[in-house]
Amino acid sequence: MSLLDKLKKYEEGDFTYIEGNFPPVFCKSRGLEITDCQGNTYIDLSSFFGVSILGHSPDFVKKMAEKEFYHSMGDLIPSREKIELLERLAKLLGGNMKGILVQNGSDAVEACLRTAYIYKKSRKIIAFDGAYHGTGLGALSATYGKHFRKKFEKILPFEAKFFPFSESSLKEIESSVKNEDISAIIIEPIQGRAGIKLAPKKLLEGLREIASSFNVLLIFDEIYTGFYKTGFPFAKDFFNIEPDLIAIGKALSTVFPISACMGKSEIMDIWGKTSGEASYTYTFSGNPFLCRVSLAALDEYERINAAEKAREIEGWVKELSKPLKEKGLIKEIRGIGILWGFDFKNPGYGYQIFRKLLEKGWITIPSGLNGEVLEIIPPLIVDRSTLKRFFSTLEFLVEELLL
Ligand SMILES: Cc1ncc(COP(=O)(O)O)c(C=O)c1O
Repeated sequence: MSLLDKLKKYEEGDFTYIEGNFPPVFCKSRGLEITDCQGNTYIDLSSFFGVSILGHSPDFVKKMAEKEFYHSMGDLIPSREKIELLERLAKLLGGNMKGILVQNGSDAVEACLRTAYIYKKSRKIIAFDGAYHGTGLGALSATYGKHFRKKFEKILPFEAKFFPFSESSLKEIESSVKNEDISAIIIEPIQGRAGIKLAPKKLLEGLREIASSFNVLLIFDEIYTGFYKTGFPFAKDFFNIEPDLIAIGKALSTVFPISACMGKSEIMDIWGKTSGEASYTYTFSGNPFLCRVSLAALDEYERINAAEKAREIEGWVKELSKPLKEKGLIKEIRGIGILWGFDFKNPGYGYQIFRKLLEKGWITIPSGLNGEVLEIIPPLIVDRSTLKRFFSTLEFLVEELLL
């Protein structure tokens, strides 16, 4: 039985899309290169959904794995690594912060929404058209796509009101916040799965003002954008706007599931003081090995000067993608740092190009609400000549598609 046949047999059907020999099955990866189980190699320009931005199987993780490692006892007995990671994240985010360490991006978003719920005692939140915050029930409440919501709409814990991702929404948002019992406004400063859409700075400034004036919490979901991808530690630093709570994950460890909800201490203190059993805890929260890998990733970001590296890659992408725009092959190119979206404004085109690129050995990400965008998130170890080869392949394939 082929691996894909086994997958069909043993995984529930609403997960991996299978069609003939698609998708390839990955067997190993190192640096920028991935090998599938049939021995084909690929170059990764996706960082596997923005996680592995220091490349695959990086040496710093191997070094951590060579040391003794252990699990700890969640909320009962902590590990040194957990404490060090919380301190490091608080400092990186600007100090005077406290956090909750969890696993997936969805969990971090939910931890932020729970904090807002305890703070304001309201399930009502404001979110944005096109938003993707994950599919755990808490996060799903704020995720826009009908496709994700439809099976679970009736059991979502938070009640979200969605607004266009535009400055023009500010008036209506203000009136909602004034007249309804809203606990939080949650936003991706750069929408990822919607196809790399940067929020207008005025929208974020307006939200900050409304949140402060009416004492609701402003939550930035930086699961996708965090850790130098924008050329700044976080997108909030690029926009120069401080949220009350921030969800981070993905590139925190670059390989294992660890995420966090971090917030201003005076807000996080709303959780109160435990009487011996935490009210919100997971077995693997603050797992010391994951914390140690995350600390090593943070060291590595500093060592390679990740912010500068991301800005250098931004320059290469801008230069090398220019011909695509000039020839009218792509309608809009959006991005910053290593986050780039190529918008064909044509439903399905992003997905079609993703498939064609895969056949040629390139890993990218199809995105946009209608599959109209092709995304790349090149790992920080990418070089200019690899990007040059990529853009000439892309140009060739788009020309072929448009013929
Ligand atoms: C902005 C954002 N928030 C939350 C999530 C959910 O993260 P996870 O899939 O780790 O639960 C994602 C995942 O892509 C994301 O892009």
